[in-house]
Amino acid sequence: MNAFELSRADAPPPEPGQPTVRPATPADDGFVDDLHAIAFGPGRFARTAFRVRERFPIDPTLSLIAEVDGQRSGAVWMTPISVGGIDGYLLGPLATHPAFRKRGAGKLLAREVTRRALAQGPGRFVLLVGDQDYYCPLGWVPTRPGAIEFPGPVDPHRVLVYADDASLAATLAGPIRAFGARPRA
Ligand SMILES: CC(C)(COP(=O)(O)OP(=O)(O)OC[C@H]1O[C@@H](n2cnc3c(N)ncnc32)[C@H](O)[C@@H]1OP(=O)(O)O)[C@@H](O)C(=O)NCCC(=O)NCCS
Repeated sequence: MNAFELSRADAPPPEPGQPTVRPATPADDGFVDDLHAIAFGPGRFARTAFRVRERFPIDPTLSLIAEVDGQRSGAVWMTPISVGGIDGYLLGPLATHPAFRKRGAGKLLAREVTRRALAQGPGRFVLLVGDQDYYCPLGWVPTRPGAIEFPGPVDPHRVLVYADDASLAATLAGPIRAFGARPRA
């Protein structure tokens, strides 16, 4: 038994009705597909964040599932990217099934996937396109409007970043590229 399994075994069982998270497995693919269809509808394939994920693969080791009372209730993905030669992640899609909303699953997924991504290094930020009212209380801050170039239209005031280095919000700039890509000379 490794240290992670030990800590899980020692962890108290979750409170009834409270969300927990676990890594996704291929057996969750159908649930996540259905969840994305319910949460984002048929227009999801036209979203700019979707285009980023078309170009750069998600990191499946950072795909998380939320459960409430043993039932799958939400999911989040992470796409490794870089901006201006700095490696980080694009968070999303984040979705909670309508039957399980307002129990903290969405915030738990956002916090936990961010903690895991930044802990594994070397990514230094977690970018997303989302509502300031939802994400800013969790530590995300607005980026410089228009500084980060997406492969499609995006409301610049919804481009938010989480980073231990607070200066990144003002300095991250350039097109979204692959994780590990460095700016051309
Ligand atoms: C957004 C979403 C993930 C939230 O999931 P959730 O599990 O209900 O979230 P939590 O329980 O952690 O937080 C719920 C709180 O956030 C609020 N909230 C939800 N969406 C919000 C938004 N867009 N802006 C501001 N607040 C929001 C809720 O009103 C609730 O407030 P309360 O705690 O005061 O009642 C879920 O509503 C969803 O899947 N929506 C459709 C897909 C989507 O928009 N994803 C986010 C893309 S960036």
